[in-house]
This record gives sequence, structure tokens and C-alpha cells, in this order.
Amino acid sequence: MQPITVRPETPEDIRAIDVVHISAFGGEAEARLVSALRDSASYNRELSLVAELGGRIVGHILLTRVPLRKHGEEKNVLALGPMSVVPSQSHRGIGSELIQAAIKLAKDKGYGAIVVLGHPEYYKRFGFSSAKNLQVSCNLPAPEDALTIMEIVAGNLAGGGHVEYPEPFTALY
Ligand SMILES: CC(C)(COP(=O)(O)OP(=O)(O)OC[C@H]1O[C@@H](n2cnc3c(N)ncnc32)[C@H](O)[C@@H]1OP(=O)(O)O)[C@@H](O)C(=O)NCCC(=O)NCCS
Repeated sequence: MQPITVRPETPEDIRAIDVVHISAFGGEAEARLVSALRDSASYNRELSLVAELGGRIVGHILLTRVPLRKHGEEKNVLALGPMSVVPSQSHRGIGSELIQAAIKLAKDKGYGAIVVLGHPEYYKRFGFSSAKNLQVSCNLPAPEDALTIMEIVAGNLAGGGHVEYPEPFTALY
């Protein structure tokens, strides 16, 4: 297989990123979510990574800065998602490469934790664990087992907290 390049998105990638999400999720909701987040204050292009294979965008992962609140205190963590890989290239490790690159990026940028709402078994293999067990909840109406979190800076999640996903996410769920 040709090598995969994982790199930050550029404006030229935007249509291809839409195509990746639409084909992987089988609908437009996640592509619309990414567009809405791009237009929001939470967006940082450096935290949006694409996987490129043979000059074609085959995967995308987005990290968004979100507040984690507890007793009036607030810190920023990163929310992972949406992420997807085009069906024709799935099960080849591209999703894993994207997640590992996202984790490295979060570490390099000094974020304390990454939270993700999705298939818990998939994310646990990368070091995410049950958010419920760390007393972390969120404002999206999803099953609590679907929320997993990875502490990057030791102690960052001490005492837990409540993750406030911004409006583009609450509009989707
Ligand atoms: C989930 C997804 C990003 C994985 O990408 P990928 O490049 O196939 O991932 P990898 O090759 O690194 O890992 C594949 C492994 O992930 C696991 N996996 C894939 N989809 C999964 C799911 N929905 N639930 C749990 N585990 C899953 C399987 O164990 C799979 O192993 P296998 O190849 O031996 O069957 C991709 O399948 C996808 O885009 N799915 C549709 C969109 C989606 O569900 N995104 C995630 C939202 S939480």
C-alpha cells in the first residue's frame, strides 16, 4: 500500500473532506457539522487533520476546543470528532493513524485531555477510557457509555467535570 500522509487541512481540501464524511457516514449530517464548526469560534485549522493517499483525501479527523466546567472553574479540553475514512480504504489502519496523529497533536499543543463521543470499544484501544468512571459528563443526549476520555496531562481530569459541546454539536444530537 502507498504511504499515508496525515497533515492539517487546507482550504483546498474542504470539498474532499465533505465527500469523505458523506461516504463514510452515509449522509450529510457530519459534513454539515464540520462546516458549521469551521465557521465557529471553536475552530482551529491546525486541529483538523486529513489522511492523504496517492494525492487523494481518504480520511479526516477534527479536534475542537471545548470547555470542561466544574464548580465555576473552566479549562479547555479537545473534543475528537467527527472522524471518518472512506469505505473503500477502511480497515487498513488509516483511522488509527488519524487518531494517533490527533493524540500527538493534542500533546504537542499542551491540551490536558481529549474527549470523544462514539464507539467506545474503538477508542479504548488508543488509551481512551470511560468518562463516567472519571466523573466526566457532557451536554449531549448520548448514552453515557459512549463518552470516553483520555487524560493527557496527569491530574487534568481530577474531580471530573462537565464538557460543554458548542452549538453545532448540540444541533446535530
Ligand atoms: C470508524 C472508522 C473511522 C475506522 O477507520 P479505519 O481506517 O477502518 O480504522 P482502522 O483500520 O484503524 O481500524 C479498523 C478497526 O476498527 C474497528 N472498528 C471499525 N469500525 C468500528 C465500529 N463502528 N465500532 C467498533 N469498532 C470499529 C474494528 O475493530 C476494525 O478492525 P478490523 O479492521 O480488524 O475489522 C471508519 O470505519 C469510519 O469512517 N466509519 C464510519 C464513520 C464512523 O463511524 N466514524 C466514527 C464515529 S465514532
